[in-house]
Amino acid sequence: MANIQRAHQRRRSLASSMRSLMMSIMGVGVRGPIRTPCHFQIWHGNFTATTSLSLFGFSLLAISISAYTNKLAIRNYAFSSAHLFPEIDTTNVEDDALLAPAPAPEIEFRNDEPLTPPPTRKTNERLKKAYVAFQAWKKAIHSDPLNITGNWVGEDVCSYNGVYCAPALDDPTLNVVAGIDLNNADIAGSLPEELGHLQDIALFHINSNRFCGVIPESLLNLTLVHEYDISNNRFVGRFPSVVLTWPNLKYLDLRFNDFEGPLPPELFEKDLDAIFLNNNRFSSFIPDTIGKSNASVITFAYNNFKGCIPSSFGNMKNLNEIVFVGNNLGGCFPQDVGKIENLTVLDLSDNGFEGTLPNLSGLKKVEVIDVSHNKLSGYVSNTVCQLPSLKNFTFSHNYFYGEAQSCVPSLNSLVAMDDSYNCLSGRKDQNDNSPCGLQQALWRRQREWP
Ligand SMILES: *[C@@H]1O[C@H](CO)[C@@H](O)[C@H](O)[C@H]1NC(C)=O
Ligand SMILES: *[C@@H]1O[C@H](CO)[C@@H](O)[C@H](O)[C@H]1NC(C)=O
Ligand SMILES: *[C@@H]1O[C@H](CO)[C@@H](O)[C@H](O)[C@H]1NC(C)=O
Ligand SMILES: *[C@@H]1O[C@H](CO)[C@@H](O)[C@H](O)[C@H]1NC(C)=O
Ligand SMILES: *[C@@H]1O[C@H](CO)[C@@H](O)[C@H](O)[C@H]1NC(C)=O
Ligand SMILES: *[C@@H]1O[C@H](CO)[C@@H](O)[C@H](O)[C@H]1NC(C)=O
Repeated sequence: MANIQRAHQRRRSLASSMRSLMMSIMGVGVRGPIRTPCHFQIWHGNFTATTSLSLFGFSLLAISISAYTNKLAIRNYAFSSAHLFPEIDTTNVEDDALLAPAPAPEIEFRNDEPLTPPPTRKTNERLKKAYVAFQAWKKAIHSDPLNITGNWVGEDVCSYNGVYCAPALDDPTLNVVAGIDLNNADIAGSLPEELGHLQDIALFHINSNRFCGVIPESLLNLTLVHEYDISNNRFVGRFPSVVLTWPNLKYLDLRFNDFEGPLPPELFEKDLDAIFLNNNRFSSFIPDTIGKSNASVITFAYNNFKGCIPSSFGNMKNLNEIVFVGNNLGGCFPQDVGKIENLTVLDLSDNGFEGTLPNLSGLKKVEVIDVSHNKLSGYVSNTVCQLPSLKNFTFSHNYFYGEAQSCVPSLNSLVAMDDSYNCLSGRKDQNDNSPCGLQQALWRRQREWP
């Protein structure tokens, strides 16, 4: 019974979010008060043993994304994370975790007014094309253990599990397929060319399935796509550049797949809010265009990105959270990062960065800085350790040879610090290998001849 109620609730909230989305895309605005700014989280928790994800052995890193931009279209949007991940046990927080698949804008819907005017249930040409698309898709599905597509029979595609209809943007008297939500369905199969028929689709969420193959080029026709979440599947091939042709795309989630090769520079020239690329096989330099991006969150983590972070990085005005952990980035440390005034999470850990920390004193809102497991050296100063919003600063596993008193971990401190495995004389758990000897010799020389 509870499940039936929950399913019903989901469906209702999805339908109403769809309606808001449609209206905001049309520029009509939303009825009722605008809801609180959208919050979504990249879970700061662990999957419970009952979820399919835990079978992959993912642990989760976490970043919490608050104030997910002020853009109307996104704000009035879609799936709450409870809706997406009913099984996640957030009480069991583990800190040394990885980037979780599948955040989504989270929003409460209290406004359940009926649609005006009610769309006709009669079928129409677009629903007939959608029928062709879904039947082709059903053919391309080889395993559906939860029998989600079991009711994908007959012409009434709006009653199919995972399919959501709404009045068409260009003709409100027509009911059309506006969204697909097959998250956590454990389906194996591929995406057929016929999905290009779903031209009214605004939401495409198929995270945590076993879809494989490549993203069809026919999706070029889906000009209304606003959220595209194909995370935690088995897609392969180059970056699916068809997504760059979608004028309304805001939220792109490609996490936990096997995409490879370079990132197209145009990715950062699109007006996207969230770009999740982590845990793929991308291997390229990070394009110089990154400074142009308006995104509030970008995850590059656990790929094979190499080279420097481009110097334009400091121009990313809207950036709140950026995660570079687990790549082959190196050389120069991004000097301009201190300019990003609303940055809250900066994770550069587990790369090959060298040199000293830049001036970070402009990061007045930063809560988490992780530069551990690099080759950084020099002195860690008060300007970092006393940043006003700082909660966790991890600089272990580097070659730092001096730190201000405020950087020394202490039980009384409100800020979690980790200075272990550096070259800090007098501190416990330090490196004693030869690079350290060299760093310490340099440090002594600098003191003798300032
Ligand atoms: C601080 O962050 C590091 C890694 O970023 C994590 O391992 C550690 O558990 C965090 N500490 C606290 C107290 O949250
Ligand atoms: C799958 O679902 C369909 C429609 O809901 C139902 O008719 C069918 O019996 C189900 N199959 C299994 C194996 O449960
Ligand atoms: C895509 O749009 C073009 C032009 O509108 C149309 O000719 C083509 O059939 C569409 N493709 C699909 C797969 O619907
Ligand atoms: C970023 O936003 C500004 C203001 O809305 C807009 O003019 C600009 O084109 C956007 N840039 C990108 C790369 O989308
Ligand atoms: C930073 O955030 C504040 C408060 O949300 C906002 O007023 C300000 O415009 C933001 N700064 C930039 C550069 O976007
Ligand atoms: C560091 O940057 C801030 C502004 O972000 C500036 O006011 C300050 O003078 C700089 N400090 C040094 C030592 O360059």
